[in-house]
Amino acid sequence: MNYMTFSLIPNPYDCQPNNRHFVYTLFMKFHRYLFLSIVACLACLSIYGAPSPDALAPNGILDLKTKSFSVGFQVGDGGRLYQHAVAAPVNPKLLRASEAYPQAGDGYVWEPAIQIIHADGNTSTDLIYQSVTRKKDEFGRELVRIRLHDPAYPVEVALCFRIDQARDVIEEWTEITHHEAAPIVLEHMASSSLLLSTNVYLTHFFGDWASEMLTPITEPLTPGTKVLDSKIGVRADQFNNPSFILSMDGVPQENSGRVLAGSLEWSGSFQFAFDNNAEGVRALCGINPFSSQYYLNPGETFVTPKMLWVWSSNGLGEMSRKLHSWARDYGMRDGYKTRQVLLNNWEATGFDFDFNRVVGLYDPAKEIGAELFLLDDGWFGNKYPRVNDHAGLGDWQPNLKRLPEGLPPLAAEAVKRGLRFGIWMEPEMVNPKSELFDEHPDWVIAQPKRELELQRNQLILDLTRPEVQAFEWQSIQNIIGISNITYAKWDCNRYITQPGSTYLPPDRQSHLWIDYVNALYALMEKTAKTFPDTELMLCSGGGGRVDYGALKYFHEFWPSDYTDPVARVPMQWDYSYFFPPMAMASHVTHWGNRPMHFACSVAMSARFGMDLDLTKLPAEDKAVCAGAISAYKRIREVTQLGDLYRLEDPHGTFRGALNYVSPDQTRAVVFVFQLNNGQNAVVRPEGLDPAKNYTIHECNPAPGRAVMTQEGKTFTGETLMRDGLLPSCSKALEASVVELGS
Ligand code: DGJ
Repeated sequence: MNYMTFSLIPNPYDCQPNNRHFVYTLFMKFHRYLFLSIVACLACLSIYGAPSPDALAPNGILDLKTKSFSVGFQVGDGGRLYQHAVAAPVNPKLLRASEAYPQAGDGYVWEPAIQIIHADGNTSTDLIYQSVTRKKDEFGRELVRIRLHDPAYPVEVALCFRIDQARDVIEEWTEITHHEAAPIVLEHMASSSLLLSTNVYLTHFFGDWASEMLTPITEPLTPGTKVLDSKIGVRADQFNNPSFILSMDGVPQENSGRVLAGSLEWSGSFQFAFDNNAEGVRALCGINPFSSQYYLNPGETFVTPKMLWVWSSNGLGEMSRKLHSWARDYGMRDGYKTRQVLLNNWEATGFDFDFNRVVGLYDPAKEIGAELFLLDDGWFGNKYPRVNDHAGLGDWQPNLKRLPEGLPPLAAEAVKRGLRFGIWMEPEMVNPKSELFDEHPDWVIAQPKRELELQRNQLILDLTRPEVQAFEWQSIQNIIGISNITYAKWDCNRYITQPGSTYLPPDRQSHLWIDYVNALYALMEKTAKTFPDTELMLCSGGGGRVDYGALKYFHEFWPSDYTDPVARVPMQWDYSYFFPPMAMASHVTHWGNRPMHFACSVAMSARFGMDLDLTKLPAEDKAVCAGAISAYKRIREVTQLGDLYRLEDPHGTFRGALNYVSPDQTRAVVFVFQLNNGQNAVVRPEGLDPAKNYTIHECNPAPGRAVMTQEGKTFTGETLMRDGLLPSCSKALEASVVELGS
């Protein structure tokens, strides 16, 4: 059995275990003999590539630099590796508190980055600098690998960095390997333990189902340890997205000040411990050590998830734009391709549909301009039909009463009417009322001798079990392999509360948290590779699973089941700190019973979709939807592919505003959302070319409202950014969408 974790993105620095083992053994055998150790070193160089000449300066200093950010390391006397605190004057004294990757058990007394129980039971680790290599990958990113080793044990730790210089992005992770006589136990294994000055503010986002990201909290990091974490393993972000912002110049501002966004590329339990100790604030980020002891066999390498850092010296706006730009290339799929307007049946029909009802939704969808139809939950299960959320999950055969000929004719009918067809699935889950559970009651995550605890009447399949992996992969292929299916929504409606596996041996139960996520990624990766033309939505009964570990296999995510546009304005604002709005599914629904024009305008500001029963929609609302879709098709190149400028923060005020600017700055779109009655004031767009002329046009005018006073007028970017424009909305629940074209 192999318990080793694996790296998900091909990494030119990933170890070649056989070669590494050979070199290591050679070194260990002969290290006392000078001549042979030189031979071994040469062998190392030939395998790993010689460190570039400037890798480590003679004074032991190593700087990792992006355009406007740098992290400085220094090798001290005795070979220990230290890090100079980011955004702080260099402290010439190298103290234990400023170690780069602190180890538990041998002198370091604060929160450790790594804690190992060695094969002989020794609980201490001591890491000494060994070498550094720097290379470029095929995309021009620099890859830096700092190798440390324990002089008393054959344990090697590599601190790895992937640097996107222009975007001020550093991804950081750790690789741990050993050649002890028996497995070692990893108790702590941080991806990053970045040291910053003590004068730091933290912004994080608290939430729950239907209020994801809705509560931003900004606080100074005072002495002591502040922990943000998740211990629920699956749908792990339900209460807390694994992303945060650190600000070095007081409370973070949109357009000024030094800020650093952090986001863990991991969909399982995570922990961020901000340890304000004597030397600075250390941000320890990675897999949650809670109950997650990992037994690492000799010769295996444990690869931690990547921690993403994005720096801006000019506030949150620039930070997000860099992060969005990075995400288009590396953090999501097809980041440069516009998305089509989607109609989902979930809010329209719930579980109550059959072939005719679904087909009956197509023509009205097409009439208002929708381009893609998504059939949601309820299409499967025969012995235990999925007519509500009590039964059927796991039985992925179409319900033959509702769909006598299965899915293909439904998809074909959609295509015949000029709509693409998408399908819902929740491959990781099972209802106890299902044929799957009847056959395989031991396939679920549960604790023996405890009553099964259901959430939404369902259980999680144990993805560490190879038969479950095979079953889920087969199910996915059966569902989305059907011809004419070009879109899929991957849902996940519960988290782990009873972390037991009948597959993992009793002394490896703690592997569940990590092995589950890695098996999930393998499944997602296979899905993305096997169905490259199928668009995928990452959903988890809301936004409980949005992180860059999973998003790279998906095109978009479902931020929340809470679709009241009044809540979506601040929620989408908060998500936009980290995720590009084009990846943020935003659907018009009846939640909150808001005016249709307001609901459409909010949805248009992200990835536009609808979740409405068009057959029952009043004609005037239908006309508003059709108008919004037609306007959206005109502006989506700008809103989806352009740069975001957040203008007016909607939290706790009467309105919110933002604008997008096309990459060539010839076009922009301004959104103003009036949440409450308040003074009608100009809104000042940003990011325009000061010298270019822009003509103002309200592209989604609200029926019956007076036109903007500046409609049709042309101004320079400089004038617009200085004097602003007066939106037509002035009362609560009104919105304006204004196009600026040159
Ligand atoms: C939760 C999702 O967020 C909804 O959009 C819908 O797909 C339901 N699950 C279906 O069960």
